[in-house]
Amino acid sequence: MAEKKVRVGLIGLGSISYAHEAGYSELGEDCQIVALCDINEEEVNNRIGMYAGAKGYTRYQELLDNPSVDMVDITVPHVMHYEIAKAALEKGKHVLVEKPITVISSQAEELIALAKQKGLKFSVAENTHFVTAYLKAEEILKQGLLGDIWSVRTLIAGSEAYRIKDPNLWHGKAPYGGVILDSSVHNFYLFKWLFGGVKDVLGFASKIIPEGEMEDNGLILGHLANGAEFLLHTSCTFEIPWTERVEIYGSQGGMIIDQLVDPVVKYYMGSGDIDGTVVEGVPFDPMAWKFNSMIAEVGDFVHAVIEDRPPRIDPQDALYALKAAEAVARSIETKKFVSM
Ligand SMILES: NC(=O)c1ccc[n+]([C@@H]2O[C@H](COP(=O)([O-])OP(=O)(O)OC[C@H]3O[C@@H](n4cnc5c(N)ncnc54)[C@H](O)[C@@H]3O)[C@@H](O)[C@H]2O)c1
Repeated sequence: MAEKKVRVGLIGLGSISYAHEAGYSELGEDCQIVALCDINEEEVNNRIGMYAGAKGYTRYQELLDNPSVDMVDITVPHVMHYEIAKAALEKGKHVLVEKPITVISSQAEELIALAKQKGLKFSVAENTHFVTAYLKAEEILKQGLLGDIWSVRTLIAGSEAYRIKDPNLWHGKAPYGGVILDSSVHNFYLFKWLFGGVKDVLGFASKIIPEGEMEDNGLILGHLANGAEFLLHTSCTFEIPWTERVEIYGSQGGMIIDQLVDPVVKYYMGSGDIDGTVVEGVPFDPMAWKFNSMIAEVGDFVHAVIEDRPPRIDPQDALYALKAAEAVARSIETKKFVSM
């Protein structure tokens, strides 16, 4: 039996909110959704019936005035993260906000300081740290199996073309709807976690879908903190299921993680190791690997509130990822390497 039930207010009922909702359902008695908010009233009415006694709102300010809400989960477009998170912290609510933490790093710094001052839990729904394949990769890297890390290549890709073409949606719209801010933060978070961060970046962006106002493809290269080279490719015009691929090459071996390939994780110890070694315990599940990581991240935050411990995602690391994406934007503008 839980010591305390955390009462949740969910703000933003769009596509990603379903994964968060599943995370709260999974927690059973540990939490309860008591309030829902979206500017789209129809969506509020459609979803409210699932939660006995829950209150529905179309203005987040009214949800924040509800004293029954202990924490809010913010799953609205990036540009609204700062305003809503700030108001929630000021009202004494714990805050879990989707990535990117905010759209400007000074806003994120302000939120981190405010949460600290108020003694509230504040974290970012950076699901990367809950992806089974990356947790296995962390173990292998810690064992030193691959030797010194020399090169890392990543891909985050899928299709958002239908959303970019929809004039009523924010995806692809200036100034914050580009794929680099949207997706590279996941990889920059990963680089910070597994390799200590990045030294410098050089960015290249392109726009394929005419209706979009922002880049829908980004290629970023640079050096990791240990001097290794990296190449990060992100696209929202690839007509494949949303996926991530990470390749890590070191002085002793290489590891390939690919959510669209079965087995998902394999490592090779040199050019003669044709068969490689399959890393067990990583299910091939292109439909659910990401969804499951989000369920885990929501669970971690609720338990952090119950147990009064820091959430696994330190918002400073989410801020780091945002600063790296800002460095990429500066690099694209100046056509030069930008140091972190
Ligand atoms: N972790 C991940 O991999 C991942 C994946 C997808 C989206 N996201 C993040 O989640 C956030 C939402 O993305 P999405 O794809 O669900 O977007 P979406 O457009 O599908 O949903 C956003 C919802 O917020 C609502 N909304 C907008 N302004 C609001 C306001 N002021 N008050 C209340 N509701 C408001 C909209 O009506 C909509 O229902 C984004 O920041 C995105 O980066 C993260």
